[in-house]
Amino acid sequence: MSRDELDIQYRDIVENANSIILRMDMNGDVTYFNRFAQNFFGYRQEEILGKNVVGTIVAPTDSSGRDLKAMIDDMALHPSSYVSNENENVMKNGRRAWIAWTNKSILDEDGRVREILCIGNDITRLKEAEEEIIKAKEAAESANKAKSSFLANMSHELRTPLNAIIGFSELMKDDSVGPLTDKQKEYLDYVWESGKHLLSLINDILDLSKVEAGKMELELSEFDLKELLKKSFIFIQEKAVKHGIALSADIKEGIGTVKADQRKVKQVIFNLLSNAVKFTPDGGKIGITAEKTGKGEILVCVSDTGIGIEAKDSGRVFSEFEQIDSEYSRKYAGTGLGMPLSKKFVELHGGKMWFESEKGKGTHFYFTLPLNVG
Ligand SMILES: Nc1ncnc2c1ncn2[C@@H]1O[C@H](COP(=O)(O)OP(=O)(O)OP(=O)(O)O)[C@@H](O)[C@H]1O
Ligand SMILES: [Mg+2]
Repeated sequence: MSRDELDIQYRDIVENANSIILRMDMNGDVTYFNRFAQNFFGYRQEEILGKNVVGTIVAPTDSSGRDLKAMIDDMALHPSSYVSNENENVMKNGRRAWIAWTNKSILDEDGRVREILCIGNDITRLKEAEEEIIKAKEAAESANKAKSSFLANMSHELRTPLNAIIGFSELMKDDSVGPLTDKQKEYLDYVWESGKHLLSLINDILDLSKVEAGKMELELSEFDLKELLKKSFIFIQEKAVKHGIALSADIKEGIGTVKADQRKVKQVIFNLLSNAVKFTPDGGKIGITAEKTGKGEILVCVSDTGIGIEAKDSGRVFSEFEQIDSEYSRKYAGTGLGMPLSKKFVELHGGKMWFESEKGKGTHFYFTLPLNVG
């Protein structure tokens, strides 16, 4: 093929390409404009050649106020910073479009940039879809924030009357305000128990909404983790004895004083143990182990020989208000807040929480606690 034939063939490719292809000199004046560009922007060749891109296919500022003239000036000075860029362009009829450009400097014999070859594709629809997604995400986030702050406010309002219910039923139970019949005592016990239960639910909701609103802060103090772990069985002792469940602890060397939020760590352990005892049938086993890992953290494991969690349900354990529908969860009502809250507490400390489980065999819940929090 002769040089001329080759030239014609290349020109044909460039002319017929389904992309905008143009060249401009260092002033931003158009020196080449392929057919696709002519159709796309609505300029005939003779209308655009020699004209500056600013004022033709580039508006001085885009719809968001970005200074595109400055951008074109900068492009001539620093072409290597504009190998690819996205910006808004404008057609002859005033319609705007987002174009993804790839730009290549064309050098003269002395190696100076003489022109810039720009190849562009219309990404308007993509941009619009992206904007819609961003808007939808922002709307969802703000709705979620509103929900969290509503919950936080409500929880405060709910706690105040509950304190009266719990406090006064406790007083009456102890015969402090006069003798009661056994039946009255029994019913007061229900009032008191239910009040306590409701309070702990409200506290969980309050905590969760605080975490979600980014307002939950750690109250760090130094405390003995070994002691806390050893004593934690107190939470479930009574139930364990009643159901013939054996408890064992194995706290390895070197677990001692840590700096963390004691209340939250305690709650995590309480939640894990209360699940373990809730989901383990009579005669089972529950264990706690703790050891230092090589990575400057403590690994705690709460294991049980209970009903286990099926792989298909594993995603629901840490999601709020979700409970795996089983004979057990129906039997032992809960709200499904314990695990998501625990995971969030651990993560606030910079740790991780996960579990391994086999249906019918049991579950191991793990969490890590960095030795240097805060
Ligand atoms: N040790 C476990 N063995 C089997 N299933 C478990 C265990 N721990 C949690 N699960 C499953 O994960 C679900 C979520 O646990 P989570 O502690 O968040 O909720 P809950 O115990 O049902 O309610 P709450 O803790 O709010 O009273 C449970 O309902 C249960 O289905
Ligand atoms: Mg629970």
